[in-house]
Amino acid sequence: MKETLEKIHKNALDAISNINSTADVEEVRNTYLSRKSELNNIKKNLKDLSNEDKRIVGSLSNQITKDIEEKLNEKYQTFYQKELNEKLEKERIDITLPGSFTPYGKVHPLTQTVDEIVEIFKGMGFSLVHNENSPEVETEYFNFDMLNIPKDHPARDMQDTFYTKVAPNVILRSQTSGAQIHEMLNSRPPIRVIAPGRVYRCESVSARKNNLFHQIEGLLVDKDITFADLKGIMNEFLRLYFGSARPTRFRSSFFPFTEPSAEIDVQCIMCEGKGCRVCSGTGWLEILGAGMVDPNVLRNVNIDPEVYTGFAFGMGVERLAMLKWGIDDIRLFFNNDARFLKQF
Ligand code: PHE
Repeated sequence: MKETLEKIHKNALDAISNINSTADVEEVRNTYLSRKSELNNIKKNLKDLSNEDKRIVGSLSNQITKDIEEKLNEKYQTFYQKELNEKLEKERIDITLPGSFTPYGKVHPLTQTVDEIVEIFKGMGFSLVHNENSPEVETEYFNFDMLNIPKDHPARDMQDTFYTKVAPNVILRSQTSGAQIHEMLNSRPPIRVIAPGRVYRCESVSARKNNLFHQIEGLLVDKDITFADLKGIMNEFLRLYFGSARPTRFRSSFFPFTEPSAEIDVQCIMCEGKGCRVCSGTGWLEILGAGMVDPNVLRNVNIDPEVYTGFAFGMGVERLAMLKWGIDDIRLFFNNDARFLKQF
């Protein structure tokens, strides 16, 4: 028995001297110290030995076990450190290397323009209309009838409208002015709102015109509102949006839902007024239609024109963005060309 134990001890020491990794350590531990090992077997069977043998074999097997354990632990420490160092060396990160580029999204220039204009008007006490008061799929009733544009009136031809197959009178709105009607039907004066949104017109696409574009509608209705208020608000808006440098002009105009009406032009930024393809040679770009709300429109929504007056305006967002940034083709906004979009 004693020889057997010594043989086990010697074999174990040989195996330990050949250890090259922590994995080897576990393997040797498993062979010599596990529950199924020869050494453990001997310990389990001690009870069958004589008292004298029990004492000798018991203490010797414990000594051997202890020795193997200690030597294995030493080896483990050595190789654990070595392997850890190797691993750290292999996974070393060079923090001086340039990082990899992650492309990130940006706010579209049209959205930026809308946000900026909305902020300016909020600063002047206007609030945003609720979405349900400004639908894109509209009825002729709101887009035309209620805005004092009767059927067969030539003014309907001013804006070539997209009709839908949903119902004969359901259209894609050709202007945001319908939001005026929704707003006045749903709230009472004083009213002071702006309604940004998409509009659609069936016309041929060019550097100046797209089938889809954006407008911001404004409406103010209260007692004692005059054309001077409209002019004051418009001038203040233009000053804040363009800075004082850009020449603008008010031009008398006609809209069925405002009387009197005006259009506001800004000097063409591309040619500085000399005339170019963007401004069709006129030197000016129309950015805004406006006027005093026609008494007929107020009557349509049951607001007494003898008590209340108001003004409305509608501006083209693309035009305003083009002027600010010097963009010479409206189609650039809709092509989704990253080379264009990442400039803003
Ligand atoms: N809706 C008009 C257009 O699209 C602009 C406008 C709005 C004019 C409000 C007057 C008042 O041309």
